[in-house]
Amino acid sequence: MFLEKIIREYEGTVVIISHDRYLLDAVVTHIAELEDGKLTVFTGDYSSFIADKETRSVRQEEMFRAQKHQIDRLQAAIKRYAIWGKVYDNEDFARKAKSMQKRLDKMDKVEKPVTDRRKMDFQITGWRGSNKVLELAGVSKSFGEKRVFSDLNETIWHGERVGLIGANGAGKSVLMRMILGQEFPDAGEIKIGPSVVVGHYAQEHETLDFNQSALDAVRSVSALNESKATAFLLRYLFTYKQVSQKIGEFSGGERSRLQLALLVLSGANFLLLDEPTNNLDIASSEVLEQALEDFVGTALIISHDRYFLDRTVDRLLVIEDGRLAEYQGGYSDYLEKKG
Ligand SMILES: Nc1ncnc2c1ncn2[C@@H]1O[C@H](COP(=O)(O)OP(=O)(O)OP(=O)(O)O)[C@@H](O)[C@H]1O
Ligand SMILES: [Mg+2]
Repeated sequence: MFLEKIIREYEGTVVIISHDRYLLDAVVTHIAELEDGKLTVFTGDYSSFIADKETRSVRQEEMFRAQKHQIDRLQAAIKRYAIWGKVYDNEDFARKAKSMQKRLDKMDKVEKPVTDRRKMDFQITGWRGSNKVLELAGVSKSFGEKRVFSDLNETIWHGERVGLIGANGAGKSVLMRMILGQEFPDAGEIKIGPSVVVGHYAQEHETLDFNQSALDAVRSVSALNESKATAFLLRYLFTYKQVSQKIGEFSGGERSRLQLALLVLSGANFLLLDEPTNNLDIASSEVLEQALEDFVGTALIISHDRYFLDRTVDRLLVIEDGRLAEYQGGYSDYLEKKG
């Protein structure tokens, strides 16, 4: 990969903000994680960082439990001595209680491990539509002199998870817009199955109205009342404050998350996702992977996230020089076949 090569050959120091787990594994020597307002630096690549983090979290859990046991015992003893001190009017007991309390106060407390970090609650329901979901027959498209596609032929069947890849400018987004009917082919036909309901996730958040609040957005695509809509947004990791905040003020990741939430409400059974993991943090991407696994409908996914593709799709369409080539499997299988 071009980017990997540049980073590897660059002689200076490189700091990368990325959710691309393959890229991180390929080029980094350290991982700095920002969590709960604290920055921790780890030496190693992403996979070892995750393995180490899991080990540490298990160990911390054990230490926390052992220490809690000790604290409980100390506290019980302090209480006992304090009572005895009073009942028997005995200085010794009272002093003992005090010194134990000091010991307890000075103890280095093991932090309670966060076992249940809030993850995005992303569930796409979907329902069974027609068997043939999408058919491209002899589709061609040009912009002026520039020919983007010539004679595309492809069928996508119910339940398939298809990845769509290609270089920047290859025409992935244009193809999606044509499927959505926002753009028209110069020749050929694009057919969508009769009971197919398309849900679209746009690359540049075009489907969001930046002047709306998150709550307005949810209520405009659903019949949820205010408290139900609020509860729904909280499940998507939005805070109470953000629920009434303008979408224009949201961060990229927050907008992505909102758009995915709206997709859930749409009841679609054919998802067109244009770079869904861009801006999503790793925890949210993993929830999206899980949600796609549970989803019973069909999905066509544009992504440059190789790790995500490996985990979600069973077939790849590659746009190259205006044509579609097909590969079975995920991104790694494709790389292997290409050599
Ligand atoms: N409305 C338009 N008018 C003229 N040219 C266009 C138009 N829309 C897209 N193009 C051109 O069509 C080509 C394909 O664009 P497209 O947005 O589909 O690329 P892409 O594969 O999605 O790329 P990326 O990976 O960067 O998102 C590009 O060269 C682009 O400049
Ligand atoms: Mg695009």
